[in-house]
Amino acid sequence: MAFQKIGILSIGEMGYHWARLLKEHGVEVMTSSRGRSEVTQKRAENAGVRSVSLSRLVSEADLIVSIVVPSAARKIASQVGKALSKVGRKNCLYLDANAISPMTADAIGQVLCQAQASFVDGCIIGSAARLANAVVYVSGPRADELRALQDSGLSVQVLGPATGQASAFKIVYAGLTKGLQGLLTELLLGARKFDLLREIMRRYEESFPGLVSKVASGISSLPVHAGRRAEEMRELRQTFRHHGLKAVIAPATQKMLEQIAALDCGKPSETGGREGDLLETLELFFQSGLLQERD
Ligand SMILES: NC(=O)c1ccc[n+]([C@@H]2O[C@H](COP(=O)([O-])OP(=O)(O)OC[C@H]3O[C@@H](n4cnc5c(N)ncnc54)[C@H](OP(=O)(O)O)[C@@H]3O)[C@@H](O)[C@H]2O)c1
Repeated sequence: MAFQKIGILSIGEMGYHWARLLKEHGVEVMTSSRGRSEVTQKRAENAGVRSVSLSRLVSEADLIVSIVVPSAARKIASQVGKALSKVGRKNCLYLDANAISPMTADAIGQVLCQAQASFVDGCIIGSAARLANAVVYVSGPRADELRALQDSGLSVQVLGPATGQASAFKIVYAGLTKGLQGLLTELLLGARKFDLLREIMRRYEESFPGLVSKVASGISSLPVHAGRRAEEMRELRQTFRHHGLKAVIAPATQKMLEQIAALDCGKPSETGGREGDLLETLELFFQSGLLQERD
């Protein structure tokens, strides 16, 4: 049966597009935006999402979805766990849809288990702005129940019965998209320095048709999302370390993304949209001194 009421924490870029899609399919969407930034509150308003207290959200929602930044995933689960215990609600379904390590997913699962809620590990692959083409991957004992989201316009794939499967899947996938963004940004900035940007892009296109245009929108959104993506690379590195592997590319990508985040040159959108194209973004990075050696 389709979910009737869904609580989304929080209405970031992805949360905004989830809210719009769910509402189009007749789902009542709520959030709890107290204490969040002005832009998140504005996005909730623009998506027509009702903001309520956390107690009310956890009492009423058929499903609670966490779509935040990796560093907030645990904190928000523990706030929801406390609120569930306070209102005395049991068996509530909680989906974490963030790019987190399987260890973080396990920790979240434990927090929610203590609150007698059911945790579904999940992730989203695809762009927020093209949510109809994205897939929500889920795993865990109650993951099958998330198939009901398909009645509300989302594609859902169940990866398996264990917590950790969906997060492991996403974190390895994220390594590819963010790794390509970091690598191409570095190389294209080098080409810009030699005044060979268009020529190298043409050559890349001949050798790897479609690659640059596939990665372009990821690079154009780095001014806004580099900080969150750097956190994803930290989660990937930690996942490898936990399993006795020493990642080399993930830490380098993390470093590059942190340097972009430190430029603080992006303005999040109140309507979940993205601005700027690849060449403009590279020029912004170049003019901001990204990768410049300093004496
Ligand atoms: N955007 C995409 O295209 C895309 C694609 C695939 C997967 N995803 C996944 O979606 C998730 C969110 O990405 P996004 O692009 O929507 O990020 P975003 O635009 O940066 O939004 C993050 C949201 O989380 C909120 N938040 C941060 N810390 C919080 C906390 N402690 N408690 C509650 N809310 C908190 C932020 O509120 P403030 O504004 O107050 O900080 C903001 O509303 C990520 O885990 C990512 O892996 C996104």
